[in-house]
Amino acid sequence: MITTDSYTYMPELVTPRLKLRRLTMRDAADIYRYSKDVEVARHVLWSAHQSIGDSRSYLRYMLRRYRNREPASWAIEYAQTGEVIGTIGFMWIQSDNSAAEVGYSLSRSYWNRGLMTEALKAVIAHGFGSMNLNRIEAQHETTNPASGAVMRKCGMVHEGTLRQRLFNKGKYVDVELYAILRRDYRAKVK
Ligand SMILES: CC(C)(COP(=O)(O)OP(=O)(O)OC[C@H]1O[C@@H](n2cnc3c(N)ncnc32)[C@H](O)[C@@H]1OP(=O)(O)O)[C@@H](O)C(=O)NCCC(=O)NCCS
Repeated sequence: MITTDSYTYMPELVTPRLKLRRLTMRDAADIYRYSKDVEVARHVLWSAHQSIGDSRSYLRYMLRRYRNREPASWAIEYAQTGEVIGTIGFMWIQSDNSAAEVGYSLSRSYWNRGLMTEALKAVIAHGFGSMNLNRIEAQHETTNPASGAVMRKCGMVHEGTLRQRLFNKGKYVDVELYAILRRDYRAKVK
């Protein structure tokens, strides 16, 4: 049985360089700074933010999800500066199957420093630890290999290509499905 009670629902997760914490309305300027970048939005299901109003709408949506204890994203705060440089979170959680899907995005100024790998490892540890999940999935567009590298570095296994799985930014796109199981995770961390 998975748990998403008040103790396990979106607690703060700390890594060597990052703090994952709940988003607040005060994060609008930081979110807008990187979410207006079309390169960041290219392979995700949201469009680049056109104004800080779009960032505020996103934050209101997340706060509503926190209030309703629905699957939601953490702010990725860069510990050294306190700046919010990305988000990571669960897209859906199925309690019957003890399964969930994770998704993430990061400011382009911070790419290729191992930061999303660090964030995803923390979310996976939380998912198999406090939340008691059995399977954590992630998927990326085939044309976004950096995201696949993050998944593999976190111990996720490639399970297949889902052809034209998504309609994104005007076209059907192929998607690579990855997952990690609790038993694989436990065997690795022992
Ligand atoms: C994908 C993303 C999350 C990666 O975050 P990151 O912090 O840069 O990831 P890391 O630094 O931990 O790892 C990136 C890996 O991708 C590799 N990489 C980068 N560009 C690559 C490319 N074009 N092809 C193949 N691998 C690539 C890097 O070499 C690195 O692997 P390595 O450590 O084995 O060398 C980030 O680029 C991002 O937010 N992109 C925009 C939003 C997005 O696409 N989100 C994912 C949707 S599925």
